[in-house]
Amino acid sequence: MRRSVILITGANGEIGHGLVNHFGRTSDHAILALDLKPLDDSLKCSGVDSIVGDILDDDLIQRIVSEYEINAIYHLAALLSTRAEYTPDIAHRVNVEGTLNLLKLAHEQSRWQEREVKFLFPSSIAVYGLPDRATKDRAGRLREEEWNLPTTMYGCNKLYCEQLGRYYALHHRQLAADRTPGGIDFRAVRFPGLISAETMPAGGTSDFAAEMVHAAARGEPYDCFVDEDARLPFLVMPDAIKAMTTIAAAPKENLTQSVYNVGAFSLSAGEIRDRVLGAFPDARVSFAPDRPRNCIVNSWPADIDDSRARREWNWSPDYDVDKAFGEYLAPGVRNGLRNP
Ligand code: NAD
Ligand code: SER
Repeated sequence: MRRSVILITGANGEIGHGLVNHFGRTSDHAILALDLKPLDDSLKCSGVDSIVGDILDDDLIQRIVSEYEINAIYHLAALLSTRAEYTPDIAHRVNVEGTLNLLKLAHEQSRWQEREVKFLFPSSIAVYGLPDRATKDRAGRLREEEWNLPTTMYGCNKLYCEQLGRYYALHHRQLAADRTPGGIDFRAVRFPGLISAETMPAGGTSDFAAEMVHAAARGEPYDCFVDEDARLPFLVMPDAIKAMTTIAAAPKENLTQSVYNVGAFSLSAGEIRDRVLGAFPDARVSFAPDRPRNCIVNSWPADIDDSRARREWNWSPDYDVDKAFGEYLAPGVRNGLRNP
């Protein structure tokens, strides 16, 4: 008998920590956690199998097929935007070919099990590409179909993978004689910048927000790599987990599209500094903008319109900006320092 599991790729990353913990607390399903890096000891518990490996490794994918029956896939493994810009070829392989490998795995699993396999994909505001700050200021909150003109390799990868997922769900093998419809139930959320109290980000362009909070809690000075007016939408990690698990549970007939914006609040880097100073009055934050990274932030929207997610699957963040800083981030990072 193959073991029935939910597969989480990139399980040792920031969202992975939140998701593995969430399923550990709330679900009867066993987890198969896959990552290039060994899973943190804090995430290892009964019900969690972990594999150290690469989503580009075909032999590994076949081994997974032979040992596990996969109910759903949360495909998190990726190179984030800044890292992807430094190594675009590797980013394309991991972010696109890796996603294709997982979609093929989901398709194969659905044929074995004769039922749809859910595929949850975290996309990003990086799929948007605004040409300059003035256009960004005018554009305001973007709907899903607006300004899909990414300026980064990561954004291009995410936008294409959204389409690839939709293709696998609706049109794959459309000319085959034995075509059976469906097979993959693909659902994606476009996340804004995420901020976690428990983990530190690495390799992203929205990382300045989390870096500022964590540096302040450690009593370290922070040189912010974007200017004070650089503005992005944000979500704290518990709400990111809520978004992924809520869309996963939504009745399929309620969903009119495969990709949804989700957001909670929008802040400029200067406003984040002010929030951080409110929680950590001794914080030392200065601004030393890195022009290319600042340009990437300027190409991303100041805010997103997530009304379709709110209407169709009852998306609603638990943390507005006051609660995010007052009840989650400030106490959470302090607690993390006390209990590393
Ligand atoms: P992260 O960098 O913390 O985690 C990614 C994980 O993927 C890492 O643990 C890494 O080791 C693993 N990984 C990378 N390449 C791999 C490979 N070839 N095989 C197996 N594992 C591999 O990132 P995160 O913040 O947890 O993001 C998870 C997902 O959410 C990514 O797809 C990211 O694009 C998306 N996302 C994140 C944010 C954000 O602000 N953090 C925003 C939007 C979307
Ligand atoms: N927050 C991510 C990054 O900055 C975007 O998905 O790369």
